[in-house]
Amino acid sequence: MDIITQLNKRYATKAFDSSKKISNADMEKLLEAIRLSASSFGLQPYKILVVEDPEIRVELRKAAWNQPQITDASALLIFAANAETNEKTIDDYVSLVAATRSLPLESLGGYGDMMKGSLNRMNHEQVETWVSKQAYIALGFGLVSSAVLGIDTCPMEGFNAAEFDTILDLEKLGLKSKIVLAVGYRASDDKYQYLPKVRKSPEDLFIKF
Ligand SMILES: Cc1cc2nc3c(=O)[nH]c(=O)nc-3n(C[C@H](O)[C@H](O)[C@H](O)COP(=O)(O)O)c2cc1C
Repeated sequence: MDIITQLNKRYATKAFDSSKKISNADMEKLLEAIRLSASSFGLQPYKILVVEDPEIRVELRKAAWNQPQITDASALLIFAANAETNEKTIDDYVSLVAATRSLPLESLGGYGDMMKGSLNRMNHEQVETWVSKQAYIALGFGLVSSAVLGIDTCPMEGFNAAEFDTILDLEKLGLKSKIVLAVGYRASDDKYQYLPKVRKSPEDLFIKF
């Protein structure tokens, strides 16, 4: 498997073959790859909603400019920011680090305070922006990992986030939907798969020092 070959094959799939489902084994691998995403401080201040229910997806499609990917993909991954990222989020994370690495909680006090200082320098809006960026990094892991696994995807910002949040009752979970990744397999008649990739040239994109 050559990663460049796989990345050239991937494209933002507009038409999914609704009869093709991702196997449980591949879905588990994809979710595990996303779980392994990097995030600032390692906080992972988001949840990823895995939506397969057809009735919910019909409702979501109405709130996504009627884009067919919402109902026809094998599943939707909705990356939702933790809207209540606060000092408790950091305390929970520090406890997780201590438990995972068998460290005394007290030894991580300075680390926790450093993260809290960084968080407290931001206002509420800045925190939400920062948290959203972390969710987009997870999206990136999902995009590339899907390509490696031969799973087709469409990353989607074209939806009404407030309406998604209402349909999924996210407010009570303290979550705000930010970005969707439709995952499945392309329909053979999706013309977009045959278009040449439009990308800046390396000379235009990279500046070498
Ligand atoms: C954050 C983000 C949001 C996007 N939103 C949509 C969308 O709502 N609907 C859609 O059909 N494509 C969407 N796209 C796909 C882009 O249009 C596509 O990735 C871009 O044109 C490059 O083409 P390629 O991915 O097929 O190589 C989105 C892509 C990204 C990264």
